[in-house]
Amino acid sequence: MMHALIQREDGFSGTQTGPDIADLTPFLTHAEIDVPTPGPGQALIKVHLAAVNPSDIHFIKGEYGQPRRRGVPAGFEGVGEVIAGDTALIGHRVSFFATASGTWAGYALTDASGLVPCRADLAVTDAAGQLVNPLTAIAMFDMIRNSGADSFIVNAAGSQLGKLLIALGRDYGIQPIAVVRRAEQAAALKALGAAHVIVTRDPDPLDQAQAIFESLKPCILLDAVGDQFTADLFFAMPSGARWINYGKLSTDAPKLTQLGQLIFQAKQIEGFWLTRWMKQADPARIPEAFSEIQKRFVTGKWTTDVAGIVPLSAAMEKLPQVLAMPDGKAFIDPRA
Ligand SMILES: NC(=O)c1ccc[n+]([C@@H]2O[C@H](COP(=O)([O-])OP(=O)(O)OC[C@H]3O[C@@H](n4cnc5c(N)ncnc54)[C@H](OP(=O)(O)O)[C@@H]3O)[C@@H](O)[C@H]2O)c1
Repeated sequence: MMHALIQREDGFSGTQTGPDIADLTPFLTHAEIDVPTPGPGQALIKVHLAAVNPSDIHFIKGEYGQPRRRGVPAGFEGVGEVIAGDTALIGHRVSFFATASGTWAGYALTDASGLVPCRADLAVTDAAGQLVNPLTAIAMFDMIRNSGADSFIVNAAGSQLGKLLIALGRDYGIQPIAVVRRAEQAAALKALGAAHVIVTRDPDPLDQAQAIFESLKPCILLDAVGDQFTADLFFAMPSGARWINYGKLSTDAPKLTQLGQLIFQAKQIEGFWLTRWMKQADPARIPEAFSEIQKRFVTGKWTTDVAGIVPLSAAMEKLPQVLAMPDGKAFIDPRA
């Protein structure tokens, strides 16, 4: 038997309430259930630490791109030891994305082909969150490099993923223009490598953006917010600009006021989803990316800011408080 946070609902909810959560009880139950059994092509992992990402919260609310399954543990990613299954990695520490039974549990089940062996010197918090955000950062930064851009805009820039992207921009000499809602994040993001920081709660954020666009002319907008300001920013960008939406942190339904720009200025609106990218990417790029990801964490080019590690036994009560803390990630420790 194992302890787990299991889903209470099936399918989609039809709501769009965003990533904030004050109470887990409508969506999850703390329960003791059977340890899952690996089938052909699967691996069973004893979970050491599980990440909590905005996608997990969208998912348990029934607002993500795949349906919930009642009675199955939640939690997309984590790190642990492979203890059984159709793999040569038994006994190894791996990061993984749980495809069959989630990571907010003592044991998780996933496709054996997706296991990512961890370097011994990779910290457990870096390993637990190694897939969703770091691989997305690498994949989207590849798009920036392939476009030949010398600057890019990233909003929700104080998020873990925003900070990973800013650090990549710094290291590869492609200037990041960071967009945040809280002014107190600006100094840290500039120190990290942001060329400019636009604060959306200032009285004149669009004027600030237009002044920056005169010199930098950014053509890529990496957007995890999807609010009216993002749409206004896109329409203020130069001809040929691409609005790449990869998250929906805001519950706004923005108005697209100047769609003619798609026709006459060759602007584009598109979406990015890591799950799709992994199916379409050059297969050689993925192991290469994990090697780069682990090296970047171990050498300090990237860091994981930790808001708190919550024992699984107390997660129903304590996780919302840790998720509400600014500037860091929450993790669940299933061994406590
Ligand atoms: N499409 C994909 O494949 C993919 C893959 C990975 C991640 N993502 C997305 O990437 C985004 C960032 O993930 P993360 O794990 O890095 O996040 P995180 O570290 O948990 O940080 C969340 C951030 O969202 C900001 N935020 C929340 N609501 C907002 C709103 N209404 N307007 C503006 N900002 C808001 C917060 O800003 P404050 O500090 O001001 O509260 C915080 O900086 C999420 O949307 C996630 O779903 C997508």
